[in-house]
Amino acid sequence: MKLSFLVSVVAAIQAVAASPIPVDVFPVQQRIALGKNSDEMSISWNTLRDIRRPRVYYGLSEDSLDRVEYGMSSTYSTSWTYSNHVTLKGLEPNTTYYYKVSYSEQEPAIRSFTTPPVVGKDELDHEFKPFTFASVADLGHVGTQGLGLYPSTSEDMDFGIRNVLEKHGIFSKPPVKSTFESLVEHVDEYDFVWHNGDIAYADNFLEERQPHSKAPNVEAFNRVLNAFYDSTEPVSSFKPYMVGPGNHDINCGTRSADIYTDAGQECGSKHRSFAGYLDHYRMPSGSPDPEDNLPTMWYSFDYYSAHFIQINTELEFGMDGDPTKDIKGQLQKQREWLKRDLESVDRKRTPWVIVEGHRPWYASAKNACPECQEGFEDLLNEYNVDLVLFGHVHNYQRNQPIGLDGEIDPAGLNNPKAPWYIINGSGGQLEGLDPVADKHLKDYLVKKIEEVLGWAKITVHNSTHLTYEFIASVNGTTLDEATLVKVR
Ligand SMILES: [Fe+2]
Repeated sequence: MKLSFLVSVVAAIQAVAASPIPVDVFPVQQRIALGKNSDEMSISWNTLRDIRRPRVYYGLSEDSLDRVEYGMSSTYSTSWTYSNHVTLKGLEPNTTYYYKVSYSEQEPAIRSFTTPPVVGKDELDHEFKPFTFASVADLGHVGTQGLGLYPSTSEDMDFGIRNVLEKHGIFSKPPVKSTFESLVEHVDEYDFVWHNGDIAYADNFLEERQPHSKAPNVEAFNRVLNAFYDSTEPVSSFKPYMVGPGNHDINCGTRSADIYTDAGQECGSKHRSFAGYLDHYRMPSGSPDPEDNLPTMWYSFDYYSAHFIQINTELEFGMDGDPTKDIKGQLQKQREWLKRDLESVDRKRTPWVIVEGHRPWYASAKNACPECQEGFEDLLNEYNVDLVLFGHVHNYQRNQPIGLDGEIDPAGLNNPKAPWYIINGSGGQLEGLDPVADKHLKDYLVKKIEEVLGWAKITVHNSTHLTYEFIASVNGTTLDEATLVKVR
């Protein structure tokens, strides 16, 4: 492990200067995630070296961490760290637990989380109570004075960051409050975060780094990736941080012609497709077959009154560096899983079904994904999915509920049969935001916001009402709001 270049561990080294904890096992980048069952929580963190039996001590008070659970460490060839994953099971619903991750009895700071309510309506309840989640996509690392790792006062900023910031106007007057800073500020207003692909944008490292840096590509890539992971900890260490795969999570570089194969990456032949994404995160299992290695690529989970499904629109995942592999074969596998998953939903127990996928098929943009539409749309209609959330397009587009092949549901938001489609790829990253070109405007578009970084606050009020709010990162105001009504 290359300690000198590891951005994430700089903070760890400073933090443990007066601590007995060895630097190479000091936990950084702590994060939690919901499990397949509501009585589970995954706890993950990274260390500079592997821990033979990573463990989590936990309990119902800070003074009584009387339970312990063990997990596993993992890494990949070009990583500077090891990811440690432990799943806690048998947790009480709606209960605050305190935990610490540790290599030994020595302790870093104790964190806490609150478990979800029991899925479905309590027999004594007449109606579901509200809950809220945050949805964000296309969110890259943001430095202290703008996007990127380096301060804008650096002469080296003439290359890369400064040009990009100025090109996109809105970033030209740093400091700009980032979307993640806004998520931190509003952390008490949501129960979990769902990051819908394109996490960190480390594959843009060629534009992030200083022009005179001689750092090899893999080091520059890891700087950005680890800086982003560091920045999420104020939220992810105590609010579940769910993720989905995006095109910028595939590999180390997007400059080459074919980004979906190892031949198209910049970090060397040992850096495999989705290696960082798969190693860093643990999402609820999406496949009973462990050989699929798919749990973090597509999955579902229940949260109180809603069934959540993450689909993988990066269908090329199945190639894993081998362009001779059948892409459609992987899609078929995911479709079979998705159909089974949708069939199994009990709408009395979880009346809402909400789907996230990175690439949109209904979009006022040139980069829609017809293959994704072909792969998934019929199933989402057949099983009456309520809401579909996309990213990838770097702006905000609230659309109508849309039936098969682009037919606008005449009911609008008042008990439509078709799914309601919203794109929000306004998280903020080095590539900036994109305007919606007039030539790409679609008749199903209701509201667009093109020049504001933002995230979504989605409140599931009960079994019949759900409100989507677009939150401006800069000041936390709601710039768009709409409520979907479903008669159950
Ligand atoms: Fe994307």
